[in-house]
Amino acid sequence: MIETKLHGDVLEIVLAHPPVNALGEAVRKGLYGAIADAQADDRVKAIVIRGSGRLFSGGADITEFGQPLVPPALPEVVDATEASAKPVVAAIHGLALGGGLEVALGCHYRIAARGAKLGLPEVTLGLLPGAGGTQRLPRLVGIETALGMIVSGVPVSAAKAAEIGLVDRLADEDRLVEEAIAFARTLNEPRRTGERSVPADPALFERFAVENARKIRGLDAPQACMEAIKAATELPLDKGQEKERALFASLVAGDQSRALRHAFFAERAAAKIDGLPKDLPLRPIARVGVIGAGTMGGGISMNFLSAGIPVTIVEMTQEALDRGAALVRKNYEATAAKGRLTSEQVEKAMGLLTPTLDFDALADCDLIIEAVYENMAVKKEIFARLDGVAKTGAMLASNTSYLSIDEIAAATGRPQDVLGLHFFSPANVMKLVEVVRGAKTAPEVLATGMDLARRIGKMPVVAGVCYGFIGNRMLIPRQSNADALLLEGATPEQVDRVHTRFGMPMGPFQMADLAGVDIGWHRDPERIDSLRDALCAQGRWGQKTQAGYYDYDEKRKPSPSPVVTEAIDAFRRKAGIAPRAISDEEIIVRTLYTMVNEGAKILDEGIAQRASDIDVVWIHGYGWPRHTGGPMFWADQMGHETIVEALERYAHRLGDAFTISPLLERRPAGSDFP
Ligand code: 3HC
Repeated sequence: MIETKLHGDVLEIVLAHPPVNALGEAVRKGLYGAIADAQADDRVKAIVIRGSGRLFSGGADITEFGQPLVPPALPEVVDATEASAKPVVAAIHGLALGGGLEVALGCHYRIAARGAKLGLPEVTLGLLPGAGGTQRLPRLVGIETALGMIVSGVPVSAAKAAEIGLVDRLADEDRLVEEAIAFARTLNEPRRTGERSVPADPALFERFAVENARKIRGLDAPQACMEAIKAATELPLDKGQEKERALFASLVAGDQSRALRHAFFAERAAAKIDGLPKDLPLRPIARVGVIGAGTMGGGISMNFLSAGIPVTIVEMTQEALDRGAALVRKNYEATAAKGRLTSEQVEKAMGLLTPTLDFDALADCDLIIEAVYENMAVKKEIFARLDGVAKTGAMLASNTSYLSIDEIAAATGRPQDVLGLHFFSPANVMKLVEVVRGAKTAPEVLATGMDLARRIGKMPVVAGVCYGFIGNRMLIPRQSNADALLLEGATPEQVDRVHTRFGMPMGPFQMADLAGVDIGWHRDPERIDSLRDALCAQGRWGQKTQAGYYDYDEKRKPSPSPVVTEAIDAFRRKAGIAPRAISDEEIIVRTLYTMVNEGAKILDEGIAQRASDIDVVWIHGYGWPRHTGGPMFWADQMGHETIVEALERYAHRLGDAFTISPLLERRPAGSDFP
């Protein structure tokens, strides 16, 4: 866990706890002991602390949170490091995050490899830096920079760290240790950050809170971070740290941090495929084909182009092909205009794109993704054709949002090579990819799909075959209840407000307006069976026509629509429904609890491997508020009995086909989803 080596008069202490040198009990004990031993060892004049493997340290061991603390606590270790009578240098490569950076802040000097990143990401776990970070960082880099780093949680590069005074020197990675030792040897005195003071400037805190109000609304941790940093300006180190500890203790025991820690581990668990060996050989993917250059096909292509993987994109007409390629370029150029890409990077990505009308050009692709509109007959025809064109061993994927991968696979003579890769719109932005495992999908095809999705920066989740897979299947009860609620007396504004208050980026009707009210519409203006049909028939297709469930101005700002109110009234009259007052609680039960219920069915049927995968789908595909942990974790926290009781209470309004998931009902009281 801790290795030491004496280089003449400099002691090298190495954090050696793969994979991320987390500062768990044994590492803390080892480091504390090594620092103490060094004080008593006359041969040692100075100390260098570094990490083994690919990084300095990923911080405190998150799995220990919520467990009884075994001393020495990390703040004690950091304090002991700072108190060292012999100069201590942190030699940082890879990452120094959270408690890892706090250890480095306890050191008297910091030298970083040029590629290193340093940050305090605790806020993303619903915490604050609890080992002196909120006290030492402002003393070192000033309040404003410290506020920015701690409240956002975003790490800075080594170069930036040098610029703001967080590190003293930069080195090439292969010379880091050598230079750190040589540097340590030149030092005579410790230099303690904790002994500095930082001037108070209350106006700065107020300004920061106002500027960041939207980002931090409803979250406990950013507020606590600001409070702790303020203490650094008012109190000596030890008193400031007491305040920091108290805030940390209350956050770590709180619901938000528990949920955010769950989300962290859920994301990592999602990468694991049950029943498959970890070291299964993958299929090489050097070139990707995309069928369809619409919004989806273009967005999907961009992910690969940005990752340096060449893409052949196929369309039926020159016009559609040109439009698709132009849209890809436009998106890249918009990113470049924001300064997030250079024009060379844009040209490099565009240079990897081969637009063509020739279907046979897909013959040299290792993975081909079909991204045409949702129609089984069309998809089957495409896959049958692909079967004749694709090379042996190529993976064939459909981007369908709902349809059966098994039926699509059956159109080919190689169902083992077929899978679903369901990207979410906009596909170049949204992180989620449902990797759909057909009945006959070969294990290495599934594993390659998962690996590739990670390589292009996505968050893949394995899903089984059913209508809508995990995410969209759960949307079905939500939408049907939201629609019914409008007829029974709610307004789109009320339903949406309940969702946005809960923390969703938008409610069901705002989402319908954004996605297009006309999606899936039968396109017969005479046939009006639903409110949606009525809106579509009037050309109210959503934001794109400046009218949907809401009216929109030129800046896409929504306002309640009298036309929609009238359309709802007309429907109520036709159906003989007398509107009643709908409570927010009813909206929550009917649109959110029913989703949990559907999630439980999905889990029970084995469509999702684990409850936490469902949480990842909703957090990354639909913006479910991360600080509630996702729908299934949220339900666990609430207690399944609460959900079952409420669903039973509203069962008479949930339609004849509604049933409570056996999994939800049969789990013993107080237990969580598996
Ligand atoms: N504690 C415990 N386990 C950790 C961990 C941590 N701090 N960081 C990573 N792990 C585990 C992961 O769960 C994963 O386990 P698995 O293999 O069983 O799934 C394994 O280490 C490898 O992690 P990743 O798959 O995430 O590896 P990457 O190379 O993709 O990423 C990383 C490395 C950027 C360090 C990333 O793991 C990360 O962001 N870790 C958390 C960083 C963080 O938030 N640190 C602050 C912790 S809180 C703290 O320090 C409080 C202090 O102020 C008192």
